[in-house]
Amino acid sequence: MSKVATQSHAAANSPGGTCYKVLMWEDGALSPAQLEAWQTARRDLLARMRDAGIKGARGTLAKLGEALRELSAESIARPLDTCAAAGLSLTRVGALAAKLQREDAVLAYRLTPCSATVLAELVGEEGIDTLVSRWAASTPELQWCATPLVEAISPAEAAEWQESCRAEAAGCGADTEADEDFSGTAPFHHVTVLRTEAVEALQPAEGRVLVDATLGGGGHSELMLEHGATVWGIDQDPAARKAARKRLAAYGDRMHIVAGNFRNAAELLRGEGLETVDGILADIGISSPQVDQAERGFSFLAEGPLDMRMNPGAPRSAADIVNTAAESELADILWQYGEERASRAIARRIVQERAKAPITTTTQLADIIASVLPRKGKQHPATRSFQALRIAVNDELGALDALLESGLGLLKSGGRFAIITFHSLEDRAVKRYFDRVTRPEIDRPEWPAPRPNPEYAARLVTRKPIVAGEAELAANPRARSAKLRVIEKL
Ligand SMILES: C[S@@+](CC[C@H](N)C(=O)[O-])C[C@H]1O[C@@H](n2cnc3c(N)ncnc32)[C@H](O)[C@@H]1O
Repeated sequence: MSKVATQSHAAANSPGGTCYKVLMWEDGALSPAQLEAWQTARRDLLARMRDAGIKGARGTLAKLGEALRELSAESIARPLDTCAAAGLSLTRVGALAAKLQREDAVLAYRLTPCSATVLAELVGEEGIDTLVSRWAASTPELQWCATPLVEAISPAEAAEWQESCRAEAAGCGADTEADEDFSGTAPFHHVTVLRTEAVEALQPAEGRVLVDATLGGGGHSELMLEHGATVWGIDQDPAARKAARKRLAAYGDRMHIVAGNFRNAAELLRGEGLETVDGILADIGISSPQVDQAERGFSFLAEGPLDMRMNPGAPRSAADIVNTAAESELADILWQYGEERASRAIARRIVQERAKAPITTTTQLADIIASVLPRKGKQHPATRSFQALRIAVNDELGALDALLESGLGLLKSGGRFAIITFHSLEDRAVKRYFDRVTRPEIDRPEWPAPRPNPEYAARLVTRKPIVAGEAELAANPRARSAKLRVIEKL
């Protein structure tokens, strides 16, 4: 079973300067014979490249460069992956992950139990060799190979590799993925999705009062404010509120920040003296910093406490669920919120393991899941289970339902309600609710004729969901599963 952890700091630092891809591995992971064969073939290719360079034979040079890469992939990277598949735990190289996350130069990395591939962009005085020696020295418990593979690559290639790390980290199922955007360790960096589309749907203008029910880093709020609107931003995460407060300070008393869960939006706003507003936006899900910070416990890629609470004051963490829920409840959570087909087997293994010792960390749980579920394709076996637990811990679908039920009541006539979702469970809930309140009539087979719909209160602004355009998708692949639906109160 292959065990790989990836992390990308893509959103915070996009490659622009001199980039290097460094593959380091533990001594012993490759046999002396494998290393010898690789070095001989490499020396030969490098000599031929030198000759081609002297002759100015660019085409040959490019072909040899490609052959050199293939050689490294076949002789080094692939055997290392095979070694990783031996069933070892990632915890061993986990210590390196903690160090790499703090490195400015590191854009992304991919770890296996016996190797690390690190994408770095030189940002300071240190050369690549010094950097690599420092990373190796920071984990003296591991015996790193003396001569790691260091490749200079173009910013475009770096961006592509960084993106593949992100895709791997986030899993690739469009619907069931854990909606993770592994952006940098910068104080609060979240790339706003469907920024213009969502904000323009609310028709922001001077004098209009809008609610951003998922304030996050304030990306949508900022654009609403730029258009002259007054904004009330709600978030249950103190870190998000703090970041948004700082970012939006310049807008003075047009920006109001409210702590709380949007499931109570009506009560929260009433408490602030607001009865009705002109628009409500909810950009459902978690923010990048919530996933990035290992101590929040959302990511299976970095060692952290098994927490996953968006609101750190909420009563139940992921560890509470994992260590106390009945096996059948665990299986239901994994199946309903993660659409995890191996839900029962995973729940059974969790119960067996927690009988030996409590499951307290993200990587401990990820390893348990991976011991049940063989890795297939790019998606980490823990992706769906982590998504499921996160949804359960934060009762995300319950909160969404409550917001849907209360939203129209908060809107003035002509007010708009816009919701961005990232997976089918959420989108289904929004679609059903919007459908329910925008049908003038309802019909049932047993009725002789359709009857007026007592819930009819809004019109669909667009029949189909709005999705990200090509430019946004190219810049932010996380947007690929985003769907924006908008209704207008009659
Ligand atoms: C996807 S981020 C929003 C990002 C924001 N639109 C931006 O552009 O920066 C979602 C945010 O909503 C918050 N959130 C999620 N569910 C919530 C809930 N039920 N009540 C309040 N805040 C919630 C999360 O803490 C997170 O900060």
